[in-house]
Amino acid sequence: MKLVETVSELQSEISQAKALGKTVVFVPTMGALHEGHLSLIEEGNQIQDAFVVLSIFVNPTQFGKGEDFDRYPRTLESDIKALAALTNPPALLFVPSVEEVYPAGSAAEPKPRAGALGTVFEGVARPGHFEGMLQVVSWFFEVVKPQVAVFGAKDAQQLFLIKRMVHREFNDSIEIIEAMTVREDDYLAKSSRNRFLSKEGRSFAPTLFSTLMQVQGSISEGEKPSVALAEASSALDSPPLAKLDYLALVDKSTFSPISDGFHGEVQLLVAVVVESVRLIDNITFYIQEPA
Ligand code: PAF
Repeated sequence: MKLVETVSELQSEISQAKALGKTVVFVPTMGALHEGHLSLIEEGNQIQDAFVVLSIFVNPTQFGKGEDFDRYPRTLESDIKALAALTNPPALLFVPSVEEVYPAGSAAEPKPRAGALGTVFEGVARPGHFEGMLQVVSWFFEVVKPQVAVFGAKDAQQLFLIKRMVHREFNDSIEIIEAMTVREDDYLAKSSRNRFLSKEGRSFAPTLFSTLMQVQGSISEGEKPSVALAEASSALDSPPLAKLDYLALVDKSTFSPISDGFHGEVQLLVAVVVESVRLIDNITFYIQEPA
């Protein structure tokens, strides 16, 4: 695994790999790597002749005022150790500086549009987050020019917006792979932010996943989605420890909330603030047409 910090070093490594017929597979991260990230690399390495490029960059433009940009864990040394210990590490680790990504004020330049979807669910609590995220992902796509990119399914709204951006602005030239959420033994979704939970918060956190399963179970037994959601919400709202932000069902193909009577593939989304830590999770399932 080679570490590069500049776009010119990155591009020279990538052109050599392409000349050898490699497929460039991009895995963007903000570091503080855990098993979830490592599974993205594993997924990428399964592609034939993969040349996996992993980036570590804590992107300032996707954090709003008062968000955790300053305290976001930066653990480059241990990240490098974890990567080097893999049987199949990425071929290239790209760790650009803020100046490399946003030279001379370019952070303020117009960003790819998240549109109305940038103002719902995560976008309500984190205004501007998705514009900043799309800005950096499109920058990476432009400099890495990957054939394939791998993202985790845990950030469902992010993934939806990235797929839409690839369709609208990159002519579907990048194949997006959706990697399954990696979970702890008690099914809490792995996240770099879990380390900020107290013992009490950590023991509450698996309630997110168990509630998702409960809603899915009750819908599959014939309960109306609106009733199933209302009944399950109280388990997630437990102030002062935990405050439910949203528990919602969306049509997976449009990310629009569904009404009772909908049938097709849905995503059940949840966000809860546990202590000051924002936790999100989701599952995907089918709602069958009534027989
Ligand atoms: O999911 C993340 O870690 C970030 O939003 C991403 C895609 C690396 C962009 O900064």
